[in-house]
Amino acid sequence: MNKLLTTLFALSVACATGLALAQTAPAAAPAAPSQAPAAAAAKPATPASAKSLEAKIEMCVGCHGIVGYRASFPEVHRVPKIAGQSAKYIAAALQAYKTGDRKHPTMRGIAETLSEQDVADIAAYYQNLGQAGRAPLADKPSREPSAQVALLLQKGNCAACHGANLSKPIDPSYPKIAGQHADYLFVALKAYKIENNAALGRSNGVMGAIAKQFSNNELKAIANYVGSLDGETETIPESRFHRN
Ligand code: HEC
Ligand code: HEC
Repeated sequence: MNKLLTTLFALSVACATGLALAQTAPAAAPAAPSQAPAAAAAKPATPASAKSLEAKIEMCVGCHGIVGYRASFPEVHRVPKIAGQSAKYIAAALQAYKTGDRKHPTMRGIAETLSEQDVADIAAYYQNLGQAGRAPLADKPSREPSAQVALLLQKGNCAACHGANLSKPIDPSYPKIAGQHADYLFVALKAYKIENNAALGRSNGVMGAIAKQFSNNELKAIANYVGSLDGETETIPESRFHRN
């Protein structure tokens, strides 16, 4: 148990420093543009394409690779499960942090260091992570909603886009939401309602129009139900990428 705790502590430190480390770590291949690391840090949009997949993922595992890992901003919640999420959606989300359509400061800082190629590689990696041999998810949700939640889901027409079982989106750039952490779903849904805030919010017009129809209590009820379903996304510890 002690060993586990030590490892977790080391990882959370790695998590906090991962960004700096990743920017100064030597690139695996020498093909990077003729930028010194210092210049690369000042101009984060360009330098990453020569990094190995391992170096790219190492920036993520300190949070997304620890089962139950919690973030504290803007309130304590588990970090989203991204393994098994669709690559197009992961790429779209990373792009939204890059452009500032999603304001979450930590994820913005991280996404800004990723090149287009990094985003594509990372998204493909996480889509497949842990999925080999997984039985396909049934179309029917693993639990029925309460009468109250059934009405809310109907009002928001959630399955029209997020698909059968809320895990088979009609477009791969839309997220699978069944079985995602309920506390994260609640934070994400509230974020679509927030406007004109530099550090909080998501400006996606589609989800904005939907989330704004609901009170926070209603969003919480929806999040608790959706999070309680069986789903395809997971947190997978990626120990082979941990150096400590
Ligand atoms: C310091 C912890 C931390 C690190 C490191 C981190 N993330 Fe995140 N990530 C988060 C948190 C917290 C959120 C939720 C942000 C929000 O509310 O929008 C998030 C959100 C995301 C999302 C959106 C998920 C969704 O369902 O919409 C993706 C995709 C993502 N991260 C990918 C990555 C990748 C790829 C890396 C590494 C390059 C990474 N993250 C590194 C904490 C982290
Ligand atoms: C018209 C299509 C559409 C409908 C209807 C819809 N969504 Fe979405 N949803 C999307 C899209 C597109 C995104 C990605 C937005 C983004 O990039 O931030 C999304 C994102 C989300 C997210 C963020 C997931 C994450 O991992 O961060 C949640 C939660 C969500 N939707 C829940 C719902 C719920 C609950 C309903 C019904 C009340 C609903 N959606 C209805 C299209 C839709």
